Amino acid sequence: MSVFDNIPIAKPVQIFYLRDRFVEDPCENKVLLSIGGYRTEEGDPYVMPAVKYADKIIHMDESIENVIATPLGMESFSNAAVTLLLGNKSQAIIKNKYMGVQCYSSIGGLRIGAEFLARYMGKETFYISDPSYENYERIFRCAGFKTMKTFRYLDAKNLKLDFKGMMEDLRNADEDSVIVLQMCGHNPTGFDPDELEWDELASLFANKRIFPFFDCGYQGLATGDVNKDAYSVRKFAELDVEFFCSQGFSKIFGMYSERIGNLTITVKDTDLIPIIRSRMAALINSMYLAPPIRSARIIAYICNNKSLYNQWLNSIKEMASRMKRVRLQLKEVLDSMQTPGYWEHLVEQVGCYSYTGLSAKQVEYMMMKHHVYMLSSGRMCVGAIGQWNLYQVARAIHDVTIQFGDNIRRTSC
Ligand SMILES: Cc1ncc(COP(=O)(O)O)c(C=O)c1O
Repeated sequence: MSVFDNIPIAKPVQIFYLRDRFVEDPCENKVLLSIGGYRTEEGDPYVMPAVKYADKIIHMDESIENVIATPLGMESFSNAAVTLLLGNKSQAIIKNKYMGVQCYSSIGGLRIGAEFLARYMGKETFYISDPSYENYERIFRCAGFKTMKTFRYLDAKNLKLDFKGMMEDLRNADEDSVIVLQMCGHNPTGFDPDELEWDELASLFANKRIFPFFDCGYQGLATGDVNKDAYSVRKFAELDVEFFCSQGFSKIFGMYSERIGNLTITVKDTDLIPIIRSRMAALINSMYLAPPIRSARIIAYICNNKSLYNQWLNSIKEMASRMKRVRLQLKEVLDSMQTPGYWEHLVEQVGCYSYTGLSAKQVEYMMMKHHVYMLSSGRMCVGAIGQWNLYQVARAIHDVTIQFGDNIRRTSC
């Protein structure tokens, strides 16, 4: 008998479970689209030139001492991250009504933020979109939230955003609850509200006691423009809505293994900043003392160097336009093969993911027969498709819609 005997086994995390299955798959021509990760047209990992350069400079800088950071991390990094998010003309920045906390990418910021909301603000209920990123439930529950609710987001029949349903559900949301929103490039659906819709959402939040918690892992990768992609958050800030926004830099700097991100907090009253800072520092101190700072140095270096920053912006633009191209090519190939169903949603969606509309049954068959891996929800990572695998992916989609075509989108809307 062991003291560990009564622990129930946890449900596996699908992206890691599928990655293990993919690694064990002996097929040579296999394609991994279940995990988020950008690759080049030829299927190689992409290291951004600005990151490569800054990494080298920092590595060679012998004046940098290897000393521990403070719990809130590197201030020049956090300031750069907040500026990227809110823009350099932001009134919140000019009036000092913000703070930033260096975090373990976007998941780390969500967890720290959720702990703060549950522990110091007594928050108990959170809302996520339906469907949503699968980790939110674990993060918020582990942080102390008791109740999870959902708001409508996807019109699954027509594969488009159900904005009316979303607004209705948020209008009726419980007061004092926390609403998790994705700033851009919604995972898993690939559908974002447009600017007018964000205006409506922002004014709802300005007039109702619900707290927005943005998750932002894809700034720039939805439209190719970091400013356009931050429209939602900047609109909320403009209306003086207080919020948390967890920024993840895994994808937008291609630093997947570094776990670097920032939690941005905006407040109405600047006097609150020292209190929040002290509580955040205490919280982090009790969890992991302080974050590692090598990757924070690299990002701060890029953001504070005009030519490197522009080079990084160009990389972002190129990544976004390549993903857009891939979407169009995939749709054209499916159309040319006369694959059953309408595939416009592939080009209507934005960012790194596509919600294909394929069912769990189709996806399982696709993994077994075609060795193309997607999430059981039918979500695939567009950033991992290129000339090297596009036709294989198209053939796999074509085959499963012929084999099991009961759920495919049949009309144009
Ligand atoms: C919506 C969303 N949030 C958070 C994450 C986790 O990202 P990070 O590596 O920045 O923690 C992902 C990654 O796929 C995501 O899609």
